[in-house]
Formats: sequence, C-alpha cells, structure tokens
Amino acid sequence: MTPSTITPQVRVLDAGELRASHTLFGHSLHAGPVDDERWSRTTALYEPGRTLGVDGDGGVLAGTAMSFGSRLTVPGGGSVPMAAVTRVGVRADHTRRGLLRALMTAQLRDTAERGEVAATLRATEARIYGRFGYGVASRGRDLTVQPGATFRPDAPTTGGRVRMVTVDEATTLLPALAAGLRSRSARPGAIERTPGWWELSLHRPAADAARGLAVHTGPDGDDGFATWTVTHQGPGFAANELRVGDLHAASPAAEADLWRFLTGVDLVSTVSAPLRPLDDPLDLLLTDPRACSTSSLSDETWLRLVDVPAALAARSWGDAAPVRIGVRDALLPANDGVHVAGDKGATDPAGPAELECDVSGLAMAYLGDRRPSELVASGWWTAHDPAAVARADTLFATTVSPWSGTFF
Ligand SMILES: CC(C)(COP(=O)(O)OP(=O)(O)OC[C@H]1O[C@@H](n2cnc3c(N)ncnc32)[C@H](O)[C@@H]1OP(=O)(O)O)[C@@H](O)C(=O)NCCC(=O)NCCS
Repeated sequence: MTPSTITPQVRVLDAGELRASHTLFGHSLHAGPVDDERWSRTTALYEPGRTLGVDGDGGVLAGTAMSFGSRLTVPGGGSVPMAAVTRVGVRADHTRRGLLRALMTAQLRDTAERGEVAATLRATEARIYGRFGYGVASRGRDLTVQPGATFRPDAPTTGGRVRMVTVDEATTLLPALAAGLRSRSARPGAIERTPGWWELSLHRPAADAARGLAVHTGPDGDDGFATWTVTHQGPGFAANELRVGDLHAASPAAEADLWRFLTGVDLVSTVSAPLRPLDDPLDLLLTDPRACSTSSLSDETWLRLVDVPAALAARSWGDAAPVRIGVRDALLPANDGVHVAGDKGATDPAGPAELECDVSGLAMAYLGDRRPSELVASGWWTAHDPAAVARADTLFATTVSPWSGTFF
C-alpha cells in the first residue's frame, strides 16, 4: 500500500505531546521551535483534549490541529459557543496524503459533540478550508494613515485622555475592558478572548519590545484601548512604522481620540492598521480623507456553521418574510436539508427550498458580510424562486460590518 492509500488515524494528543505538536505547527509555517519561556506562555491556549494529531511514517507525529473554546457574537448581539481553530500544520514530507482532511473531519465531529454551534479560523491560504465547509464571513481592510494627519474640527472627541500602561497593568485592565466593549458593541463576528489568548498576546518575545499599550479614559471611566508595535526600517528614524494591533472603544468619540493619539506619536513615518473593519470611519474623521488609504482588503473570519439550526435560531433577522434555504453539508449530514431563515412561525418549514447553497456559502452571508443577491449572482447560491432573493437580502442585512478584531 502506498502512503496515500492509507486512511490517516486521528488521535487526541496527551499533555506530554503538546510541545511537539506546537513545534510541528511552527515548522509548517517555517518558524523555529519556541524557547521554554515562550512555551510556558503558550500552554494555556492548549485546552485538555482539544489537540488532535496524526502519526505518519515510522510513528512520527506528522499532522496536528487544535481548537480552544470561545464564543462568537452573532447579528442581534447574542452569542453562540464556538471552537477557535488554530495551530493547524502537516509536516512537509507528509502533505497531500489526506492528513488535513482526516484532522478537519475529526475536529468537526468533536466540535459538534461538544455542542459548539460554530468554528472559526484564520487561514494562511484562501484555497484550503472551503472544502471543509468554511466560508469567509468577515473581511478587513489594511489602512495606512499619515502621521500628523489633522482631524476635522467637528470630528467627535470625548475630551478624555490616553495613558500608556505597562504589560502588568494591561494584564489587569485589558481583559475586562475588552470583554465589556465586546458585549456593548455587539458587532457580529467579535469573539471572546480567553485567558490563554491574553497570556500569549500580552507577553511578546523580546524581539517585539518596541510595543505600546494604552488605555483611553472618557467621562465615565476607561472606555477604549490600543496596542501597537514600532518597527525600525533602515538607519535612523526616517522609516519607522507604527503598526496598530488593537484599537477598540466604546464610542466613536473614544475611538477618534485613540486615532488622534496614534497618529500623533513622534518619530514615526507611517501608521498602519491591518485588518480594520470595512466600515472603519477613520477617513471620515480627517481634514484630508486621502491621508488615510486602504492598501488591501482581505479575508478575516473563516466561519464553519457546525449546527445550522442553532446558528439560524441564534441571530436576529431583518424585517422581511422568512425564506427556506436548502443547505448541503457533505461532512456534517445533520445540517443537510431545508432550513428557515427568519421567523419560523411565519412560513411552512416543510415547503420546498426557495434558495440553495453549500454550508460554506451560508457562512458567507450569516454574519452579514455578503448579501445573498451577491452570492446568487456569483454562483455561490442558487435561486429556485427569484422573489426570495430580495427578501433574503433584507433578512441577512446587518447595520454594522461584521468583524472579529482578534487574531488567533
Ligand atoms: C495546509 C496543510 C495543513 C494541508 O495539509 P495536507 O495534509 O497536505 O492536506 P490534505 O492532503 O488533507 O488535503 C486536503 C485537500 O486540500 C487540498 N489542499 C491542501 N493544502 C492546500 C493548499 N495549500 N492549497 C490548495 N489546496 C490545498 C488538497 O489538494 C486536498 O484537496 P482534495 O480535497 O481535492 O483532495 C499543509 O499543507 C500545511 O501544513 N501547510 C503549511 C501550514 C499551513 O498553512 N497551515 C494552515 C494554517 S491556517
């Protein structure tokens, strides 16, 4: 039997194998192993029983994938339990033999058994995960803004102040502040940040030392925060880039105050902010809107709806009559069939599908990123009843762009 004809056996890795799994993942991204200090910060991300592995030739660990438990905010402000999928890698000498397929299949079943309604991930490459039912459900734009850009006189401000904080202070302050902002903003796509995520995120290796952490205080107390790194390109200070990591605030005015602060830091030639929400208002705040440009637009959240009925029941809907959607799901057959989007009581759920799509296509509309009419026009969805398309557009629409704002 050649290696490609053997069905890979997926197993749950035990605690003693997690570091080897992490090293395998790092190698798959062409990174070296982490040192003891970094590993001690990383372990909290690995929850017991959630790291999968596949052994390859000679019993060597050859492929791995893990997830940690989180929650996903859905349109309307509710949230569902979610698996945050990460640390996916296959040894270069074992690729294209079906190891990832075996890992993804086992992980989806495990996620369903845990009662998690969705799984999300960030993809290194866009051609990998669609076949497993994941679809792009939020996108971000990479912003560049000129340092010293002036703000319009009537751009909002709280009149508050920004103070820089240490890592220790941030460890105390930011998790609770971020959780409060997440529930207050109710932006679809936001996810719960776990203690393990914070541990890893706040304690960066020494190479990232030129990092800043700041909290904004408005009239009612702390109401926003920002994190950034400054990279030195070339000699002197002429080409320093300030790269924004986090920028979250309770109000447009607090957000504008944080932007004023970040664009006012000295000895910086470029301020960049990758993967900001599509509706980020920065250009609207500036005297010269061209001082802010979008260098690229890319996928952020890859969403897998694991329990379609529960996901549809959890989100709110726009004001239109419900539609019946036929969903195809090759990996989780419990999702296969006709589902109602909208108020269930207002339609005959046993009727024929008016629209049809793969579960990955449903994910693309679920958080409000893509309109069903776009998805029909581009062949992702099929319209059996053309009159249902406009209703679906109204039902799925959200008032703000979906965005997670959390990399994992
Ligand atoms: C991406 C990766 C995990 C795929 O692992 P793998 O074991 O080779 O994948 P499989 O053999 O199970 O392939 C499953 C399917 O995905 C396709 N596929 C896998 N990797 C792909 C890629 N990078 N680009 C396009 N298609 C890919 C395969 O062709 C196969 O297609 P099929 O369903 O039509 O047969 C592996 O190449 C890897 O470790 N890459 C570097 C690290 C990385 O990018 N990890 C992902 C982090 S989000």
